[in-house]
Amino acid sequence: MHYQYDYYDIVEQALRAPSGHNSQPWLVKITPNQIMITADYSRSLTVVDPLHRELFISLGCLAENICIVASTKHYQTQVELNDKGQIMIHLTRSPQLPVDPLANYVIKQQSNRSLYHGGNITRQQRTVLTTMPLYPNIDCHLYPRDTEQFNLIRELILAGNTLQMADKRFITELKQWMRLNKKHAQTTNDGLSYAILGAPNLPLFMVKPIMACFLKASIQNRQDDQKIKSSSDFMLLTTQQNTKKEWINVGRSLQRLLLACTANQISYAFMNQPIEVNKLCIEMQQRLHLTTLPSIVLRLGLANVQPYSRRKPLQACLMSD
Ligand SMILES: Cc1cc2nc3c(=O)[nH]c(=O)nc-3n(C[C@H](O)[C@H](O)[C@H](O)COP(=O)(O)O)c2cc1C
Repeated sequence: MHYQYDYYDIVEQALRAPSGHNSQPWLVKITPNQIMITADYSRSLTVVDPLHRELFISLGCLAENICIVASTKHYQTQVELNDKGQIMIHLTRSPQLPVDPLANYVIKQQSNRSLYHGGNITRQQRTVLTTMPLYPNIDCHLYPRDTEQFNLIRELILAGNTLQMADKRFITELKQWMRLNKKHAQTTNDGLSYAILGAPNLPLFMVKPIMACFLKASIQNRQDDQKIKSSSDFMLLTTQQNTKKEWINVGRSLQRLLLACTANQISYAFMNQPIEVNKLCIEMQQRLHLTTLPSIVLRLGLANVQPYSRRKPLQACLMSD
């Protein structure tokens, strides 16, 4: 069946979507005229994301990627959420449909955790992001370096590191998703690989003690502070409510913004620590005088391309009947 080849191809490309700890917490079912995304709760991050907020944001990123890639094959898409929190994407052949220009950047997109060059993004680059149409109830704020808001977010990120690194359950979960050398990363095709964390490829017996030394608040804070100072802006996405629908809408909006960053040579890295710690999230909302709920924080800037993270093969993401 012709549609199946198209749909498999679309999903395979769209799987480059980002997810918390690169957990890839999704399963996909392909049927005539529809691609359904459902949460794979066996991959949820129960400590860092107990409400599955980030999980549904990740599903939203995948859904948007599917819609964007589908346009390259001239499928019009319509997205619905059902009561079980599954995302149904209906596809209709539409030969006149223009290709979404963001599709060119799906394979180039990456989180870039390196130290940035220190320069500022231009006014024109900022305008691309601030004028991008977003899904309902989602707002995007940019806070350039040296503003009061930038300094406040920096402070809260460092406070988030301190609290998370002191939490044994957080460390245990993080370690479960760390892929310590090339062989380890190639075995699982998920998680946070040594390469994207900027570590060398060493035998496991050497990496484990080194990793233990790095998972300390003082070291994380020193590194993150340098990285923040090398960045140009923080980008904050907010929702109006804490619902699955809005989390998916954040993910869909986020995915478009990340592809727009990629298209405009803006590097980005997630810094969601203060949102993952409830009391810091409330503090952020109050001190930034927001009437909406903080959902995603990224730093933006200028940097060299880094190694890419791996993805599970399509077959591993397909739902059996
Ligand atoms: C909802 C969400 C939250 C994330 N939070 C963080 C974070 O706090 N810190 C971080 O370093 N990366 C975070 N990430 C980035 C993921 O780790 C990253 O997307 C994943 O490893 C895949 O890598 P890639 O984006 O380079 O493809 C987050 C991603 C998503 C979708």
